[in-house]
Amino acid sequence: MKFDTPATTNPIDQLRIVGKPTRRIDGGLKTTGTAPYAYERHDAVKNAAYGVIVGSAIARGRIVGMDQRAAKAAPGVLAIVSARNAGKLGKGDKNTALLLGGPDIEHYHQAVAIVVAETFEQARDAAMLLRIDYEKADGQFDLAAAMDTAKPPRETPLTGPPTSKVGDFDAAFAAAPLRHDATYTTPDHSHAMMEPHATIAAWNGDHLTLWTSSQMIAWGVGDVAKTLGIGRKNVRLVSSFVGGGFGGKLFVRADAVMAALGAKAVGRPVKVALARPFIFNNGTHRPATIQRIRIGTEKDGRITAIAHESWSGDLKGGQPETAVSQTRLLYAGANRLTSMRLAELDLPEGNSMRAPGEASGLMALEIAIDEAAEKAGIDPVDFRAINDTQVDPEKPGRPFSQRQLVKCMRLGAERFGWSRRNATPARVRDGQWLVGYGMAAAFRNNLPMKSAARVKLDRHGIVTVETDMTDIGTGSYTIIAQTAAETMGVALDQVVVRLGDSDFPVSAGSGGQFGANNSTSGVYAACMKLRDRVARQAGIASADARFADGNVSDGRQALPLAKVAQAAGADGLVAEDGIEYGKLDKTYQQSTFGGHFVEVAVDAATGEIRVRRMLAVCASGRILNPLSARSQVIGAMTMGVGAALMEELVVDRRLGFFVNHDLAGYEVPVHADIPHQDVIFLDETDPISSPMKAKGVGELGLCGVAAAIANAVYNATGVRVRDYPITLDKFLDKLPPVA
Ligand code: MOS
Repeated sequence: MKFDTPATTNPIDQLRIVGKPTRRIDGGLKTTGTAPYAYERHDAVKNAAYGVIVGSAIARGRIVGMDQRAAKAAPGVLAIVSARNAGKLGKGDKNTALLLGGPDIEHYHQAVAIVVAETFEQARDAAMLLRIDYEKADGQFDLAAAMDTAKPPRETPLTGPPTSKVGDFDAAFAAAPLRHDATYTTPDHSHAMMEPHATIAAWNGDHLTLWTSSQMIAWGVGDVAKTLGIGRKNVRLVSSFVGGGFGGKLFVRADAVMAALGAKAVGRPVKVALARPFIFNNGTHRPATIQRIRIGTEKDGRITAIAHESWSGDLKGGQPETAVSQTRLLYAGANRLTSMRLAELDLPEGNSMRAPGEASGLMALEIAIDEAAEKAGIDPVDFRAINDTQVDPEKPGRPFSQRQLVKCMRLGAERFGWSRRNATPARVRDGQWLVGYGMAAAFRNNLPMKSAARVKLDRHGIVTVETDMTDIGTGSYTIIAQTAAETMGVALDQVVVRLGDSDFPVSAGSGGQFGANNSTSGVYAACMKLRDRVARQAGIASADARFADGNVSDGRQALPLAKVAQAAGADGLVAEDGIEYGKLDKTYQQSTFGGHFVEVAVDAATGEIRVRRMLAVCASGRILNPLSARSQVIGAMTMGVGAALMEELVVDRRLGFFVNHDLAGYEVPVHADIPHQDVIFLDETDPISSPMKAKGVGELGLCGVAAAIANAVYNATGVRVRDYPITLDKFLDKLPPVA
């Protein structure tokens, strides 16, 4: 189905099932521990051996010797695979460093070998007996020190141009009556998803099956094939359940490739899970940024000049953190400058994590806007409203498909009790606590991506959907079932959803908050084709066919779908189709908007920060399932608290690795850290986005949160911290006197 003109009324608009708060159809499997995650696919794979990956102990240099004798002689050891005996390997399109290093080493904990043994314990013990000698080389591990060497990154459709200019920023900034100029920093972050990277690999002749934990099945198939030098057709990826990805599982990683190599070597299935302390440096991470923002403003609050420059680092050949993306679209202003610069660093591989780009960019921009508003003496909500734009500020001929930012902020202010905020910082006390309010705009783009599905109607009237879409904890199973039930006119429990298998049609996959809208649109397309087949089989003109209550009817006589399928033969009826987009995302800018409001309390004596309550108001097009969308946004808000107050990978600048590589040292917030969270969705449909009229929503819940907290801490204490995370050592000495 081609989607190149705005949606009109369609079966989804019935909203019998779509749009209703719906519990997860896979909830029972999750809560009973019977959902089949990759590492536990004993049902599918018998007699698996265990692999343990050995990582490089240096960040840069080369392996000059690997003594395997003791490891090979250890009990239970079946094979050791390293670059020396792995055969020729390629590199996946989505990988920057090789997933099996050696002799050259590109980063700390880059995989250099896998030890396969009968049991996990035997593999782990033998892995410790490998003696590897290295020749260390110097590396650059310090973003601040590498800033001067940073270069414009190559342009891609997602990053946009490295530099973008409109008008004359320098002149307008110099002439502006009010000027703000400050630099903000965000540290390296780790995904810290619950389920580690894990894979079971099994070869059948030259055909490889990987039960793995992946967000993007088709990308995975392509990159496994490319890495191993085999045809795509010889690779099957299965990822039925995923315990969180957050961007860390968008790409094939070492667990999958090393399990495949291990299994080949021992002629038997091999299972590999990355130990938690290995993930942080072996896997990818969100790169740190240094962001300079300048805002020139008229006395009435109108922005006349805005510049956002961001520096980040990655391995050679890597990509920038696109921290300026939102600044190209969020606020009006005639004179604009945005730029990204990429420094070559020898830290582990940087890549997408939890709303890459906007999450980092808004951490800086939305403090800067708070500061500019304060300089103008204008309330932060009003200041943002004054600078609202309904068109792409870089290309004014391009309107937003929908943009209800101001409504989100106004409604949020009202519900939150924003009018009770004291605009003068450090004036509100509650016993030992300094209390502050802060807010920020939320912004994240909506990405149309093609997505396909197969739908079957069987003789019992059961509708089965198959697509390689993944459910990474987000609720994909449920919204896909809702979509099929709505379109086919059957009850939710008459739909079976099968996901995460490369034998199924290729979907958008899960990432960049593009999963829900695109995958359900693909399912909708396949269901519309199935409706045609059903109508034809029933002898009803397609245009007259109505689907409701498990029947198809021509308006006079209702025929059970089960009967129609029976008449079609033993296999029932099957249809396969997908959604493909035209140019609507070129003609219109498609984005999602929101407002985040936060109340914090800061201990007047110790500087301890407590988030007391949070509110998010989101405008994201149609909300397919308000229950799972709310869970997504609440989880994202919690991640925002992490970014604001806790999360930081500490870089060892001598040795080039992340020191706090476990969940004891890398702290993330939990729900108990935030007593009260609220989410409001505007009643919105976006007919330009897709036939579902939905857009992304999950990542929007994160974008802007950290700045709202930073602004609340400022309002509570009068101290601006521009260096995340906001830990008490950064402001304790600046707090108002206690006595
Ligand atoms: Mo998301 S970081 O695109 O999985």
